[in-house]
Amino acid sequence: MDSPAFPLNALVTGASQGLGLALVRALLALPHCNLVYAACRKPGSATELAALAQQHPERLRVLALDVTREQDFVIAADTVRRETDRLHLVLNVAGLLHDPARGIKPERRLEDFNPDALLASISVNTLGPALAAKHFLKLLTHDQRAVFASLSARVGSIGDNRLGGWYSYRAAKAAQNQITRTFAIEAARRAPNLIVAALHPGTVDTALSKPFSANVAEGKLFSTEQSATHLLAVMDGLSAADTGGFFAWDGSPVPW
Ligand SMILES: NC(=O)c1ccc[n+]([C@@H]2O[C@H](COP(=O)([O-])OP(=O)(O)OC[C@H]3O[C@@H](n4cnc5c(N)ncnc54)[C@H](OP(=O)(O)O)[C@@H]3O)[C@@H](O)[C@H]2O)c1
Repeated sequence: MDSPAFPLNALVTGASQGLGLALVRALLALPHCNLVYAACRKPGSATELAALAQQHPERLRVLALDVTREQDFVIAADTVRRETDRLHLVLNVAGLLHDPARGIKPERRLEDFNPDALLASISVNTLGPALAAKHFLKLLTHDQRAVFASLSARVGSIGDNRLGGWYSYRAAKAAQNQITRTFAIEAARRAPNLIVAALHPGTVDTALSKPFSANVAEGKLFSTEQSATHLLAVMDGLSAADTGGFFAWDGSPVPW
């Protein structure tokens, strides 16, 4: 983010790989970025993040945070609070689309629907941002501009749903969107400098998209670096009037 010009403190969930890791890198490249809290569920296995932390010992903190566990948020918020009283950016990036080891895969038709997969998807894609809002609101409530953004997905849009399928992921992202919108309304009263938004990153070359990206048109599959640049630019451009909105990687609005 180019603005604000004051030192920026950011927290990113799902920072072990994919978009979360790229966003951490992109934030560290900003000269005015002061502290980056990179939260991931298994810091011991996040080798690229650990290497980054060694390169940036003054500015990068790795936090253990499984977004399905409320106690992890309590501890993470306490850890941040011991160092600073404010965050300017909270980015909910942790997400789940498939996990073959647990039999979780996007449904092509109703017969594929698996109750455990729906609950697993909701516990990461919906619960994570809701708990982040609950536990980081105080740190985002101050006299400077702040942004709380959740990586949603266009397939979570009900208005834009023309293809069907992917019941669990669509439903979990749609529920995440409702949490975002509802939080934005409450935040407008309680934290007037806070902008709350849902973001669609486009199709990005990560482990999440890998099984489904073979047919993506030429030029439409973004690298994680490209996507991080897009997303930071979108967040940079958000104003108070945009709070409660859903935006794509190019800043265009996405229907709910
Ligand atoms: N890639 C795309 O094309 C695309 C498109 C639309 C939306 N999105 C959204 O963008 C976000 C990032 O996706 P990605 O493509 O970067 O996926 P990814 O490479 O698969 O990364 C997913 C991240 O979420 C983390 N995660 C999963 N369960 C977690 C939990 N319980 N607690 C904490 N972290 C957890 C993973 O951690 P581990 O390393 O520990 O597994 C990983 O860091 C997701 O919310 C996704 O829905 C992606």
